[in-house]
Amino acid sequence: MEATEKIRVVIVDDIAETRENIRKLLQFEKDIEVVGAAKNGREGIEITRQTKPDVVIMDINMPDMDGITATEAIRRANPYTQIVILSVQGDPNYMRRAMLAGARDFLTKPPSVDELTAAVRRAGKMAYEEREKIPPPIHSGVGGSLTGVNIYDGKVVVVYSPKGGVGTTTVATNLAVALHSSETPVVIVDGNLQFGDVAVFLNEQGKNSVVDLAPRVDELDLEVVESVLLVHKPSGVKVLAAPLRPEYAESVTGEQFAKVLQFLRKMFAYVVVDSSAYLSDVVLSAFDVTDVILLLTTQDIPAIKNARMALEVLDALSINRKRVLFVLNRYDKRIGITPEKIAESIKQEMVATIPFDERTVIPSVNRGIPFMLEDRTRPIAKAYLGLAELVRQRITQVADLEIETKKTYSGILGRVSR
Ligand SMILES: Nc1ncnc2c1ncn2[C@@H]1O[C@H](COP(=O)(O)OP(=O)(O)OP(=O)(O)O)[C@@H](O)[C@H]1O
Ligand SMILES: [Mg+2]
Repeated sequence: MEATEKIRVVIVDDIAETRENIRKLLQFEKDIEVVGAAKNGREGIEITRQTKPDVVIMDINMPDMDGITATEAIRRANPYTQIVILSVQGDPNYMRRAMLAGARDFLTKPPSVDELTAAVRRAGKMAYEEREKIPPPIHSGVGGSLTGVNIYDGKVVVVYSPKGGVGTTTVATNLAVALHSSETPVVIVDGNLQFGDVAVFLNEQGKNSVVDLAPRVDELDLEVVESVLLVHKPSGVKVLAAPLRPEYAESVTGEQFAKVLQFLRKMFAYVVVDSSAYLSDVVLSAFDVTDVILLLTTQDIPAIKNARMALEVLDALSINRKRVLFVLNRYDKRIGITPEKIAESIKQEMVATIPFDERTVIPSVNRGIPFMLEDRTRPIAKAYLGLAELVRQRITQVADLEIETKKTYSGILGRVSR
């Protein structure tokens, strides 16, 4: 290492005291400079992107995104940056996973000054050597406007029913909770801009909504978006709420909404979108960017008729039927219109049924606590776990589908209204 060049270090730990202690341990080392600190994995990724340090000292257990996931993302984005993991105990399972994610070294908390400086110097040397190997970047122009973050290659899941009251919001919120984990964080977006009630279903409120993002869709960054999202604390799911008043809905165009979804998919593993039965520009643009659509129905003729028409709309939009997961909500075995008959009548495979269970669903909605946060052994919860698994599988299957040349929604609406 050149004598003049310092080893540039970023500290990522959710506890302020730990960050401060490490900074203090390093402050008298002439060849080491702390260039940034972050309190969670995501911030760590962002700071690393900005400062391009040689070494990141990374805590393993952090609330929003664990150190292993962050390590992986940092190594992908900055291949020469070396990660030194800090953990409470030397759990071999963690160590193995951290290694696989690309971590270089491990220290047990709290490290001594000698251990810490030796590890930083070793990692710094490695970073220097790896940096030397990397040819200077050829500017590709890719990743300009919307980028800044590229943490996930997130997938969009739109939950839609062409008839109101079928359970779209119930399914979207509980599916979001079922899909969410520290490794696969989820954001739920309320696509029902006039009368959206996702925030109510989750008993969260705030003054910010998608309206705050719409005017700046071309210059979004992580901080702005984070500041607008609500956090559903019991689950960790983030929420992009609908506007507080129905009249504000008009201020968000379909194009803006799609751009917001495209940005969110870089920040989250899954972007679950609740929608309205009404095919607004916003709902149609969500269809334009979605990976899969959960099309809901119930066992009654109007809902089934509307589901058939919705499939025709999706066909006209050139959305591959493999992207459509047709689901029966509020399934009651006593009703003669069976899932098989419904599937047969509208020629679309029914991939899942969710049992009718008012005793679970109604109190959950009224209390604002998704039932997927509670007893997961109930039949309805098991149905949702199965549904979440199906969504994951189908997303993998459709990832290989060629991107359809989707028709624009103005075209299709023009046709429908004729
Ligand atoms: N599996 C189920 N069993 C029994 N009731 C259910 C089930 N799923 C949803 N419900 C009930 O159906 C009603 C409508 O649910 P929800 O608000 O989720 O529907 P929606 O399609 O989002 O309605 P809207 O068109 O108003 O947005 C709620 O009262 C909810 O409790
Ligand atoms: Mg709803």
